[in-house]
Amino acid sequence: MSLPHDQDISFDALLSVAIDAARKAGAILIECSRIGFRIEHKQILNLVTDADHQAEQRIIDVIHDAFPTHPVLAEERGLTERAPSRYKWVIDPLDGTTNFAHGFPAYCVSIGVERDGCGIIGVVYDPTRDDLFTAQIGHGAHRNGVPISVSSTDHLDRALLVTGFSYDIRENPNNNLNHFVRLALKVQGLRRTGTAALDLCYVAAGRFDGFWEVTLNPWDMAAGVVILREAGGNVTDFKGAAHSIYGQELVASNGRIHQAMLDLLQEDTPP
Ligand code: IPD
Ligand code: CA
Ligand code: CA
Repeated sequence: MSLPHDQDISFDALLSVAIDAARKAGAILIECSRIGFRIEHKQILNLVTDADHQAEQRIIDVIHDAFPTHPVLAEERGLTERAPSRYKWVIDPLDGTTNFAHGFPAYCVSIGVERDGCGIIGVVYDPTRDDLFTAQIGHGAHRNGVPISVSSTDHLDRALLVTGFSYDIRENPNNNLNHFVRLALKVQGLRRTGTAALDLCYVAAGRFDGFWEVTLNPWDMAAGVVILREAGGNVTDFKGAAHSIYGQELVASNGRIHQAMLDLLQEDTPP
């Protein structure tokens, strides 16, 4: 459906608003880490801080100043929908909350934009390193304005992989520990950084060769998958089928080791 308020929006304009929002949210995270913040428990392992809420509010304000009717799906507030639109913003104001709460400097702001359900813009900002990852569909991916691309590693023996675990690790039998053990024995190295959006960007930049996770949310993936695809990477579900940010599984790689990762992730025997 073509809507009057959706016409004449350039992808450049969307990207520049996303960058502005990400930098402003990043400044809030750095300031909160300096002056202190309150922590609440959503569940036993799942935290939220003042910084998450403040950064999220700032991002939504910046988006709605520029595009007042655009729907925004945000981790803490859920979906804000003022009018039907071809566009949807999908944001995680603080990806890596557990790291942030512990003072471990591995976290970021993640902002993706969809048009007609397809990811077209991705911006991930790591304020601890002032690293800005950006992508616009069809225009490649960049880190601080410099083009990035995935690695050329073609064997798991030489691959550095990364994964993550969801907050229901204690209750959910599908908690990724089986895959973790199986892949740890096949790769050069395996990491768990605690920030899925940055994990995707690091695959895009060739710092990691592959990443998988079992239970992610749309806001963890929306920006990073656009950046990864634009950097030449591949992203699928565990069966190798088309990836959706509204599904939970994700396998991301440089493409060359993708099938080898899928083969191991599809094994259902104990490691
Ligand atoms: C989490 C991080 C983590 C991943 C979890 C996510 P949050 O997001 O991305 O790396 O393993 O699945 O929930 O809660 O820090 O925004
Ligand atoms: Ca997240
Ligand atoms: Ca978050």
